Amino acid sequence: MESFKSFVGWDPRRLLLRSRSGIFLAGLICLWLVGGSARTKAAEPASTLVLDPAIEQKIDLLLQQMTVEEKVGQLNQFNGDYVRTGPVPQDPDHQAKYSKLKSGEVGSFLNVVGARQTRTVQQMAIEGSRFKIPLLFGLDVIHGFKTIFPVPLGEAASWDLEAIERSARIAAREASAAGLHWTFAPMVDIARDPRWGRVMEGAGEDPYLGSLIAAARVRGFQGPKLGEPGTIMACAKHYAAYGAVEGGRDYNTVDTSYRTMREIYLPPFHAAVEAGAATVMNAFNVFDGVPASGNKFLVHDVLKGEWGFRGFVISDWGSFGEMIVHGVARDKADAARLAITAGSDMDMESTVYLDALARLVKDGAVPMSALDEAVRRVLRLKFVMGLFDDPFRYCDEQKEKATLLNPQHLEAARDMGRKSIVLLKNEGNLLPLKKDVRTLALIGPLADSKRDMIGGWNAAGEAKDAITLLEGVKAKVGPSTQVLWARGCGDRGRCPDWQIQEAVTAGRQADVIILAVGESWDMSGEAQSRAFLDLPGRQIELVRAVMNLKLPTVAVLMNGRPLVLNELSEKVPALLETWFLGTQAGNAIADVLFGDYNPSGKLPISFPYAVGQIPVYYNHMNTGRPYTPGGPKMWLSAYSDIPNDPLYPFGYGLSYTSFKYSDLTLSKEKVRIGEPLEVRVKVANTGGREGAEVIQLYVRDWVASVVRPVKQLKGFRKIELKAGETREVAFTLTSDDLKFYDGEMKYTVEPGEFSVFVGGNSRDVLEKRFVLEGQ
Ligand code: NOJ
Repeated sequence: MESFKSFVGWDPRRLLLRSRSGIFLAGLICLWLVGGSARTKAAEPASTLVLDPAIEQKIDLLLQQMTVEEKVGQLNQFNGDYVRTGPVPQDPDHQAKYSKLKSGEVGSFLNVVGARQTRTVQQMAIEGSRFKIPLLFGLDVIHGFKTIFPVPLGEAASWDLEAIERSARIAAREASAAGLHWTFAPMVDIARDPRWGRVMEGAGEDPYLGSLIAAARVRGFQGPKLGEPGTIMACAKHYAAYGAVEGGRDYNTVDTSYRTMREIYLPPFHAAVEAGAATVMNAFNVFDGVPASGNKFLVHDVLKGEWGFRGFVISDWGSFGEMIVHGVARDKADAARLAITAGSDMDMESTVYLDALARLVKDGAVPMSALDEAVRRVLRLKFVMGLFDDPFRYCDEQKEKATLLNPQHLEAARDMGRKSIVLLKNEGNLLPLKKDVRTLALIGPLADSKRDMIGGWNAAGEAKDAITLLEGVKAKVGPSTQVLWARGCGDRGRCPDWQIQEAVTAGRQADVIILAVGESWDMSGEAQSRAFLDLPGRQIELVRAVMNLKLPTVAVLMNGRPLVLNELSEKVPALLETWFLGTQAGNAIADVLFGDYNPSGKLPISFPYAVGQIPVYYNHMNTGRPYTPGGPKMWLSAYSDIPNDPLYPFGYGLSYTSFKYSDLTLSKEKVRIGEPLEVRVKVANTGGREGAEVIQLYVRDWVASVVRPVKQLKGFRKIELKAGETREVAFTLTSDDLKFYDGEMKYTVEPGEFSVFVGGNSRDVLEKRFVLEGQ
């Protein structure tokens, strides 16, 4: 019971009992719930990974017959040769990875891709295994497989859960047709530090939005039933708090409290598990001094215990071995013992299990039951994926050809692209542009760069298939429009004077200029931390030179993270955030630029005013000396040289039309714990065209036993409104929405005064107060 004592916020409904034979049963336990008088029966976790007794029996039989070495082999994953996504060890033993298939020493490969290639390697595994145990093939399918969709941060800006789910579904369809069973996605790390290049891979800074998107992506990858055609296993990563690396430096240490872990970093993982995620990946970092791979609290207690997770946990690349470097394990044996005891099941690329686990079990240092439990979880998914019935069911070259880059997938990618674009500024309604403009100049290093369109983690996506902005614009404008183009700068803002001059010459001839600036694709993502978040290199000089022409100019930004945009945003009248939008990027941006699509994206992460503000996020805790924007600064928590607020706040984004919020009403001024509260607001489209708006609802708890954030997102609704139309929108707030972890880390709700805020972003909101009364 040791571990149960350390549970914080433990929910008894999630308790699972396991019988001797290894069959899991949901326990019917009646317990009084903390802080409430309602009697609640224990129930099955919401996880869609339902246990099949027939499968569990087959696993029992296998476990009875397998040698210790064969079992350990199931927990070992090697890297193939399709792409290198980590530091590959150079020792000869490692190089012999394919020959290890013959001795059953491999349970899975990452980075073996394609119907033909996976068939070949699977064949070797089946021939090498006494029990014909198939391999699992995994790849980082992060935002599409062959048809590339917007980077995940971009998709998050759509606030469109259905579209995000569809994007993951298409990625799964394509990946599974190319022999893959498993993606290392979604990345559900909450990220409040844009210096960390991996903000690109997640859903931004908010745990509420992040949780909904995590679940949508899991549903998309895994479909209604894992194992059906077109589905692949999801992997919620990196468990946990990887987004909190100090200074935004990748792989750095993390120091976060149990409270922040519970309230900020864990919710999206919990949501992914509840949505049925088949696997979870350990983070590289520590939590409370213990690396995530060997962190019993995170893996054994919370993930597998409290949440009832039934899939398996994979290390990150080499992270078991890195416990030696961290300084918590003396050697591989020590690292293997820590990992298996914590509940981490599969070893990606460190060979810690392969080299040390069998000995540990034989010596009695690790119980056979711990090894069996890990192997059971891996075999379970191999059964669920139908691989024991047919190990080659994902290896159909005909299907692969017919599925990849299918026109419907391309259309969906274009639509997702448009939905992901955020209009940050549009002075004098410069946008949308007219299709019959006489001369248009496209300037900038990103205007005609196919490779940059598809961003990092491009799986099988190829630059040659991408539509650039120049191509998209040319396809959009009328025959009489002349389109000029000048690069202006090289990669990463290397801009020789002549190139800037050439761009100015092109710009001078134009009626309208489109400036395509930002990061190149490889500046964000893994191992791409940046200390400066300005436009790279001399790009701002290019902007200045072009703006000196005093012509109508639109800046189209491409980037995988928030940048510091002060000067750019001051100088240009119109600014579009387009992230890296994928294969159809150029078409999607052109649709928005020329008004065939009215932008409705909202930032899923704050765009800082200065790097010195970081971390800057909307749901920060209150202080004893809070500063009110515009008010005096002395003795208050304020910067003396810059504003406290970010340049563009969380939830921000404009439209070609305008929206007005009014008549925020609450169904009651006082409500009892357990009683719902209805929140209504009127939203009017006050502009000249139809548009979509994401209506956001935030709450604040004014007095509680622990300090609470100044705002927390608790609901949103995306609606379409015709020009002149007004609609009343209703939300229902429940006591669950007001819960938090109290001083004893009990998840509870306390009576008191609350505010409800509703608006089109986290800053500009209407407010109403209500009182929550005890029962
Ligand atoms: C390391 C990364 O941290 C992880 O996200 C990825 O899935 C693995 N490499 C495999 O490529």
